[in-house]
Amino acid sequence: MPRYLMLRTPSANRVYAGEAATLTEAELKITAPFAADVGDTDVAGVGYLGFDAPDLTEGQLDVVARQSACFALFRQEGDLLAPVALPRPLVLDDDLVTIPKYQGKTNEQFTHLLLGVTLAAVTREPTGPRQILDPLAGRGTTLSTALMLGHDAHGVEGDEKAFEQMVSFYRTYLRRKRIKHAADTSSVRREGKVIGRRFEGEIRRDGEALHITAFTGDTRDSASLFGRKKFDAIVTDAPYGVAHGSATTDVRGVSGHRDRSPAGLLREALPVWAGQLMHGGALGLSWNTFGLSREDLAALLTDAGLTVRSGGAWEQFAHRVDSSIKRDLIVAVKP
Ligand SMILES: C[S@@+](CC[C@H](N)C(=O)[O-])C[C@H]1O[C@@H](n2cnc3c(N)ncnc32)[C@H](O)[C@@H]1O
Repeated sequence: MPRYLMLRTPSANRVYAGEAATLTEAELKITAPFAADVGDTDVAGVGYLGFDAPDLTEGQLDVVARQSACFALFRQEGDLLAPVALPRPLVLDDDLVTIPKYQGKTNEQFTHLLLGVTLAAVTREPTGPRQILDPLAGRGTTLSTALMLGHDAHGVEGDEKAFEQMVSFYRTYLRRKRIKHAADTSSVRREGKVIGRRFEGEIRRDGEALHITAFTGDTRDSASLFGRKKFDAIVTDAPYGVAHGSATTDVRGVSGHRDRSPAGLLREALPVWAGQLMHGGALGLSWNTFGLSREDLAALLTDAGLTVRSGGAWEQFAHRVDSSIKRDLIVAVKP
């Protein structure tokens, strides 16, 4: 059976501080069930992610091209490496995700990985573009990653300033890149009172339309903001419970204060999010393990009626972000 070697983008090592091999290996194992004997391979001092597979089909090449750290693919032929052409999975340029720079932004490559492994757990067949929700959207890294990969993107964010900055970035970006689109921001009213803002956009690309919707508001009100709409996947990076350069943390929690752990917020939000998933849909969540253990989080997901994916590669994503954040991810499916 041929052996393939995937060269990772140089940035992968920087992002995961020496743990890129483990994370990208786990990502490939989960998203590419056709790949056997997945592991790091060294050729002339350069590290590759190697795997065995019969001649790759077009669909399998697409799976490899969608790996978050994929830079190039080679097929090993004796001592030589033959380049393998990969399809281009991006519907929009990756500068949609890389241009915004701000404190508290979730790393782009990690967001791509989280989206990929969450979608790999979805068991329902797609009926069009996948409907992705990030109910803690920040300034939109998940939303942009989803759009870039051809999915519809939806979000809720509690910080109105972050929402406004996201909307203003999308407007400028789409205009400057001369991408055909229609976008509108409006007030959300309940019983005559304005309770928040809504951004809706349609982006037209190669004869197809991608949609984006984002609301300001508390994530625990996500179901009432979106009404009857259901999602294939919920992909989100939970607040870390650390202060980004100020005394308050990024958790808009249950006590009315900024909590040090997202546990209380997640306990209340997870049942709401679970109700927004289609059957066969999946929820992928990244979080800071210093504020909440995997066991406790898994129990919250189970209580919300979801089935947690565990064991093997599903538990090989923990990595250090900085001295106060050890990030991990967990994926659960709605039966
Ligand atoms: C880790 S950040 C997500 C960052 C985002 N992925 C990005 O790259 O821009 C978590 C976000 O959750 C938001 N948040 C925290 N508590 C919330 C709540 N109760 N309702 C809505 N948003 C909340 C914070 O304002 C923050 O933007």
